Amino acid sequence: MRRHEIQDGRNDAWTLHQLSCRDQRRDALAKDEVLVEVNNLTKYFPIGSGGFLRKKVTELKAVDGVTFAVHHGETLGLVGESGSGKTTVGKCVLQLHRPTSGEVSFKGKNLVGLTDKQLRPFRPKLQVIFQDPYESLNPRFTAYDIITEPLRLHHASKDECRNRVKELLDIVGLAPYMAERYPHEFSGGQRQRLGVARALALQPEFIVCDEPLSALDVSIQAQVLNLLDDLQRQFGVAYLFISHDLSVVRHISHRVGVMYLGKIMEIAPRDALYERPLHPYTQALLSAVPVPDPKVEAKRKVILLQGEPPSPLNPPSGCVFHPRCPKAFEECKNVVPLLNDAGNGHFVACLLHKTSWP
Ligand SMILES: Nc1ncnc2c1ncn2[C@@H]1O[C@H](COP(=O)(O)OP(=O)(O)OP(=O)(O)O)[C@@H](O)[C@H]1O
Ligand SMILES: [Mg+2]
Repeated sequence: MRRHEIQDGRNDAWTLHQLSCRDQRRDALAKDEVLVEVNNLTKYFPIGSGGFLRKKVTELKAVDGVTFAVHHGETLGLVGESGSGKTTVGKCVLQLHRPTSGEVSFKGKNLVGLTDKQLRPFRPKLQVIFQDPYESLNPRFTAYDIITEPLRLHHASKDECRNRVKELLDIVGLAPYMAERYPHEFSGGQRQRLGVARALALQPEFIVCDEPLSALDVSIQAQVLNLLDDLQRQFGVAYLFISHDLSVVRHISHRVGVMYLGKIMEIAPRDALYERPLHPYTQALLSAVPVPDPKVEAKRKVILLQGEPPSPLNPPSGCVFHPRCPKAFEECKNVVPLLNDAGNGHFVACLLHKTSWP
């Protein structure tokens, strides 16, 4: 039986998906040590009728069967249009959203289903940097309070806090006197550095960076990007770097995953994805990015996708991309493509790249 012959019967597809995940996992383990492993993750939000009784009417499939791994000291970029589920994946990994199903393992320990108390020892190691430092930093706290908040929660002494703040401000390139300032007294770039300092306070091993640059000017973006790069070299921290800026993701990531309507369509080492995209969706996304080489740029043809992304309340049958796919054929309407191994760590969920089932 071939994988693409599996119809949209959840159980069969799920079993095969599990097997395919195991292949990926083996592949990943062969190369390097896995830090975070996400296996067939789903997050369905109940959508109520509003009203007094708030009855659940339907489900919004924000994340639907996502599988990937992040290795020690690695950056996995996650790209996709607005609403494709990137932030929800990030929050589910950190258990800020509790997944509907699937596994999220940190150093081999599944975090899904753990109580808040059981999660406590893992919290320091898994941190987040948000898009908008204006919103994520408490305006009534000084920089000192903001950075030391996670330390105090973990019972650090006053002396420890004072020393750590000095050290962290230095690491992120802020002057020691800035510890007494409030968030509104910082520039946008400085505020994001403050967010980075807070995320680093407890020596995390994994940071979800959710659009950390999109509220910043382009010149400042480069500085923060370099800071994140330096921190990775210095401390070996791994990032899940979420963005819809494909150029930024190319710059910082070792591997890149492409999301569409709650699913990963393609995941591959950075250069393979940008130079030889296999999925028609990735090809369309990349065709819209200007290329610095004038000769290549002159030949660039933008692939225009028809229509808007469908609603995750009512996703299309078969391949969720088929209604907009310029290469779709009859089978795509009915068959859910699994992430198939295209070789060298390149995986693609498209029937054009089906491989035979062993
Ligand atoms: N708390 C929630 N309750 C209900 N639906 C939600 C909730 N959070 C997100 N969603 C829905 O889940 C889907 C995925 O949202 P998500 O924020 O993860 O997308 P995204 O890829 O991060 O988008 P963007 O690029 O705009 O940040 C969207 O359709 C969104 O409306
Ligand atoms: Mg988002």
